Amino acid sequence: MPKPQKHVFVCAQQRPPGHPRGSCAAKGCNEVLQTFWSELQKRNAYDRIGVTYSGCLGPCESGPNVLVYPEGVMYSGVGKDDVVEIFDTHLEGDGIVTRLQAPAGVW
Ligand code: FES
Repeated sequence: MPKPQKHVFVCAQQRPPGHPRGSCAAKGCNEVLQTFWSELQKRNAYDRIGVTYSGCLGPCESGPNVLVYPEGVMYSGVGKDDVVEIFDTHLEGDGIVTRLQAPAGVW
């Protein structure tokens, strides 16, 4: 397996209903994760981009959260309709989708 140039971690943390921290799962992260995998397949990008689900990334209140390395950029409030832009701008371009970037105080 080749080493990916960019690696996306999508928080897939679940918590019980009513938990004070909430969770990315309760905010639709599974749809986001499925869309990342689907886009990865469409673009046949397995040799250069990794997509992995993760546990809690920290800022639960602003999820779904997505973290991209090697840049260490955190995106918050990501919806499935944002995934193509993240691929085009960040994963296959070298930009950052600033409108989704977590504020400096968060990450
Ligand atoms: S549950 Fe996703 S960041 Fe905490």
